[in-house]
Amino acid sequence: MEQLENVTIFDHPIIRHKVAILRDQNTSMKVFRELAEEITTLMVYEAFRDVKIKKVMVQTPLELTEQEMVVDHSVTIVPILRAGLGMVNGVHSLFPTARVGHIGLYRDEETLEPHEYYCKLPDGIEDSVVFLLDPMLATGGSAIDAITLLKKRGCKDIRCMHIIGAPEGIKAVHEKYPEVPIYVSTVDRELNANGYILPGLGDAGDRLFGTK
Ligand code: PRP
Ligand code: URA
Repeated sequence: MEQLENVTIFDHPIIRHKVAILRDQNTSMKVFRELAEEITTLMVYEAFRDVKIKKVMVQTPLELTEQEMVVDHSVTIVPILRAGLGMVNGVHSLFPTARVGHIGLYRDEETLEPHEYYCKLPDGIEDSVVFLLDPMLATGGSAIDAITLLKKRGCKDIRCMHIIGAPEGIKAVHEKYPEVPIYVSTVDRELNANGYILPGLGDAGDRLFGTK
């Protein structure tokens, strides 16, 4: 797909390797969950490059030195339930102090429209960098609704992280909210008539949690 400003695609062989195993229908739920976390961690390393830092003084065994640490509460992650939960540990393994908000959305299987059923966000979220987590960006409807909700709550710095994105979904989010950076590990070919990503990996929530 065309290069869009604010869209980062992680074209890296290690990520491609892990995504290939993730797609495989014979991959177990346990391995699927582990891979979703690992891919997220690899993305975080790059996506968190500009988080807010503060100067701190650290006493080493030899001397007092000025160092840098990430500012408390500077990052909030918001998984879109359910499948976004599969990315939370991947962020926490590198950045354990990130607070977590939850937005529950399900996609109507007929209309593909998202419906909100839950929202709990930490106080002060409006002043932090908010990373919206959802492994699948298909039509983009869920991500757009979640961004709209976060904006209503006053969030100013919102970024999206997805493992697989369809060109249609990336374009839809970018057109509606061009200021929102999108990080996606892999861009797939297209959506099928049922709104599933091709080649994709199937239903991410079902594969993470063993439903269906
Ligand atoms: C899936 C996926 C995304 C959404 C993407 O969730 O996890 O949230 O679909 O589709 P979209 O870009 O077309 O909105 P689903 O609604 O199936 O819920 P689940 O995570 O509970 O399975
Ligand atoms: N949601 C998924 O889990 N998979 C898709 O391919 C599309 C939406």
